[in-house]
Amino acid sequence: MKTQSTSKNRPLIVGIGGSTRPGSTSERAMRDALAIVEEAGCDTVAFAGPDLMLPHFEMGIADAHPVAIRMIAALRKASGIIIASPGYHGSISGIVKNALDYTEEMRNDARPYFEGRVAGCIVCANGAQAVGTTLIAMRSIVHALRGWPTPYGVAIQTDIKPSGAGQSADWMPGLRIMAEQVAAFALSDVPAKLRAQRNDDVIISRAS
Ligand SMILES: Cc1cc2nc3c(=O)[nH]c(=O)nc-3n(C[C@H](O)[C@H](O)[C@H](O)COP(=O)(O)O)c2cc1C
Repeated sequence: MKTQSTSKNRPLIVGIGGSTRPGSTSERAMRDALAIVEEAGCDTVAFAGPDLMLPHFEMGIADAHPVAIRMIAALRKASGIIIASPGYHGSISGIVKNALDYTEEMRNDARPYFEGRVAGCIVCANGAQAVGTTLIAMRSIVHALRGWPTPYGVAIQTDIKPSGAGQSADWMPGLRIMAEQVAAFALSDVPAKLRAQRNDDVIISRAS
């Protein structure tokens, strides 16, 4: 885990993703996206590669794992998330899904899971089919966690390498669109309005 930037009054965006493979494309793309949201005025923290080698989630085990504790604490503070996964057999990888399963620890929070938080999605896979199905799967998970996927999702087909080596230049234009949407949401008054609306709902449901 590496905190890339911290300062007061800047929304926090948490990056979760990548693989344990040295030179992981999805990790590099995630870090590129985090750099863009930093430029746009957000703080970031990344949980990537070996950080994600957490035990299979079950309720109650998070407290025994320092990375899980830090990740959940960061998510609780976060205004947004950037998730990056390789496509494994048509869906997101086991370690990324397992890391996301740790958000179950947030189910009783005032802002459960990804509620009121924007989510940028990045997918890398060799083939077009897996890129598409994995992006859909990732967005479905974000919806299940009550998050707000950005309109633009980043689909990186790693066997098509215009620059010849799968370099950042291949994916930067799309990544920038998504990362700027993440930052715009996080820096807007929408998250605060959503929180206020939820409080109103709670009052209404208590009164009824
Ligand atoms: C276990 C495993 C399953 C994979 N399944 C698919 C797949 O179904 N379709 C596909 O296009 N690529 C598949 N790939 C290739 C990866 O999605 C691709 O190499 C990706 O860019 C790896 O991301 P990384 O560089 O972050 O490790 C698979 C790779 C692994 C290791």
